[in-house]
Amino acid sequence: MANNIFRTKPITSGDHTGLKRCLSAFDLTLLGIGAIIGTGIFVLTGLAAAKMSGPAVVLSFIISGFACAFAALAYAELAAAVGGCGSAYGYSYVAFGEIVAWVIGWILLLEYSVSVAAVANGWSGYFNNALSAMGMGLPDALTKSPELGGIINLPASAIILILMGMLIVGMKQSAQLNTAMVFVKVLTICVFVGIASFNVHPENWHPFMPYGWFNTLPDGSTTGVLAGASLVFFAYVGFDAVSTAVEEAKDPQRDVPIGIISSLVFCTVIYIIVSGLLTGVVPYTELGVSSPVAHALQLMGYTWASALVSTGVIAGLTTVMLVLYYGLTRIIFAMARDGLLSPFFAEVNHKTHTPVRVIVLTGIIMSIAAGLLPLGALAELVNIGTLAAFVLVCLGVIVLRIRQPHLHRPFKNPFNPLFPIMGMISCGGLMAFLPSQTWLRFVVWLTLGIIVYFTYSMRHSKLAKKG
Ligand code: ALA
Repeated sequence: MANNIFRTKPITSGDHTGLKRCLSAFDLTLLGIGAIIGTGIFVLTGLAAAKMSGPAVVLSFIISGFACAFAALAYAELAAAVGGCGSAYGYSYVAFGEIVAWVIGWILLLEYSVSVAAVANGWSGYFNNALSAMGMGLPDALTKSPELGGIINLPASAIILILMGMLIVGMKQSAQLNTAMVFVKVLTICVFVGIASFNVHPENWHPFMPYGWFNTLPDGSTTGVLAGASLVFFAYVGFDAVSTAVEEAKDPQRDVPIGIISSLVFCTVIYIIVSGLLTGVVPYTELGVSSPVAHALQLMGYTWASALVSTGVIAGLTTVMLVLYYGLTRIIFAMARDGLLSPFFAEVNHKTHTPVRVIVLTGIIMSIAAGLLPLGALAELVNIGTLAAFVLVCLGVIVLRIRQPHLHRPFKNPFNPLFPIMGMISCGGLMAFLPSQTWLRFVVWLTLGIIVYFTYSMRHSKLAKKG
């Protein structure tokens, strides 16, 4: 049995997968920025500043950014050397064997699907605000889930179905939509930076660390700069989605590492600047609102800019959903191709060159979830899953260097094994600072995954049939 569940997959070139190779390094970088900048910087920064880090939220971003940088280097190495659209799932299959790969794949399903549905909730709030500003706001019954007193969160459901249509049409078209929206959100951020730079009051940065490094409160919640880092980590989630585009990249061995690393560097710089300015223009205690960037501009008296930021957020959150939804479909596609999920999902549509069945099924499930469940508070659940995947990807680099020392590695992690070890320690550390409630939910999800593996996947695995 141990032999079965730890069977490893050989590396195959994966050239003829049916997916269309249409993405350049520039497309991939924009795909990364599309997935990264969203709720994290536009919403969670304020919460982290007000309740956890104070003005030291900038330190929280730096700490999280470091953890992600180590993970990004590991992803870049494995994406170029191992490839495959399954991302961390695929690398684990080669490095550790089937059961670890399954667990990681199962975790990634959680990361991507919950992110899309949760971000759709945030998107809906901004969208309805924009409609209200034009006098066309929707009633509560159509913008809130039943638990919050409504019938359905219609905009949240609808946006997922619209993105479903985009992804079916084709990846090149989706990438073009992504590019246009990334420009809108970056422009929005530039406007904020431009205005805020002239309105900083340095006294707002004192006290710098009002909540210290780390404390657990009586209700089990956490506070301090490190707890803030675990929360704002959500702002970085998504750069790993670039690695799911390996089979659609024109020159994956060169372009995917470029896409992963440059999008992460770009976003880290933006986050440090924006979070530093945000706490410099208004007191951190005022930032615990659902739209802190727009709120800060309003407090400074720039009402027009506040409206512009809302537009940027709507565009920004759309691209986050688009890219994470895309990543989700490619991971399920990879798992189905290996037989660990039903082969029904392993087919690419001949006309569109996209895995239409997976796109439709996941789209419908996420659309229902986003419409009927209050998902806004699930960022920490996404973080714990993503961090676990990052730890394993870093470990995967070390294990594969030992097991397959002669594997062609177009991109090599510098200072191996120091950097991957630093990645494991920093990502593992951020997991440790998450609340116990989040750990509990995570363990429940893992248990469910193990049950599915032993009842279905182990017996249907293509490797099992070969072996
Ligand atoms: N990084 C993405 C966001 O902040 C998930 O919305």
